Amino acid sequence: MKPSAILDDARAILDDTIQLRRRVHRHPELGLVLPRTQATVLEALAGLPLDVRTGQRTTSVVARLAGARPGPTILLRADMDALPMAEETGLPFASEVAGAMHACGHDAHTAMLVGAARLLAARRESLAGNVVFMFQPGEEGYHGARVMLEEGLLDGTPPPTAAFALHVTHRLTAGAIAARPGPAMASGDTLQVVVLGRGGHASAPHDCLDPIPIACEIVQAFQTLVTRQVNVFDPAVVTVAKIEAGTTRNVIPDTASLLGTIRTVSEATRERVLEGVRRVAEGVAAAHGAEVAVELIRGYPVTVNDADFAGFVLDTARELLGSEAAHATSHPIMASEDFSYVLQRVRGAIANLSTRPANGPAFPNHSPRMLLNESALAAGIAMHVAVALRFLEGEAGSP
Ligand code: NI
Repeated sequence: MKPSAILDDARAILDDTIQLRRRVHRHPELGLVLPRTQATVLEALAGLPLDVRTGQRTTSVVARLAGARPGPTILLRADMDALPMAEETGLPFASEVAGAMHACGHDAHTAMLVGAARLLAARRESLAGNVVFMFQPGEEGYHGARVMLEEGLLDGTPPPTAAFALHVTHRLTAGAIAARPGPAMASGDTLQVVVLGRGGHASAPHDCLDPIPIACEIVQAFQTLVTRQVNVFDPAVVTVAKIEAGTTRNVIPDTASLLGTIRTVSEATRERVLEGVRRVAEGVAAAHGAEVAVELIRGYPVTVNDADFAGFVLDTARELLGSEAAHATSHPIMASEDFSYVLQRVRGAIANLSTRPANGPAFPNHSPRMLLNESALAAGIAMHVAVALRFLEGEAGSP
């Protein structure tokens, strides 16, 4: 299959893809239950030669395309959920749901994967192997991919031995692809610390146990933990993003609480920092005679791209889109992604597709003014198709 033919086919369905993306964009849904989005996807896939299953605990859709000839199985993934925020783009197809917006491009991911399903289904007769299309709810913190794994995402014969996903970015020229071997995105865990002091009159701290300076010291000590106990080449970020204590100027409160996030790019450093955060909070509080309640809530694991597969994805991008459109990313980004759960089980990679607007400012993902360059969606569809075809055909360089 010629790369130019794949790109032509993707461009031929670009208008449909844009219409589908806009339809999803108008009606954003949050979390694990996205009935309207699921119905839209099912409608868009209807009539294709796919074995379609839906989730029990979520509104996921898993569609399996069986090639005419036997061969391996590759999984392609799109996330479908939106964010709890008000849209400020002013687009004619802006969100019609108050307090919800597709500001992370999942509307585009969904539409592109439908497009890829259409193009791959049309090639079914020449396909040696299978493609699993994974449409997942609950990427924005709800562990949707984990639920889908628990519900048998990887069942089926033969099970997927490769997995690929795209995520939009504003960082490159529109239509460009970026990926890196190894850790691509961080783990994202939550820290909650409550310093348990003893309140009283602000003029008589010696009669109280003031939790506020202790909380401040804990925040500082976290930063020392990171810079003195974490290898700079295997980094971590600890951010206390919220501090809460007190009611007024002359009352020492009983408690002070901290809320923040812990990011790492290796599971070893993740464990080290989680353990360290607890130790530091308990130790600093103990030094001042206070108690502390520490809660560490595990979020997504580190997203680790298989080195060979990431190289294969970049080779595919070079062949399909030209070498200037294929970028090896120099370092991981500290955002997190629940495709990490899939990549713990199946080797593969997540890559970025740039959807940077041609003109005007490029607002990042999660901005209420985030805009997508829809013409770049053709490159995304073509990447899904080309990665799948090259993998199934076992082309030189495919892992
Ligand atoms: Ni996202």
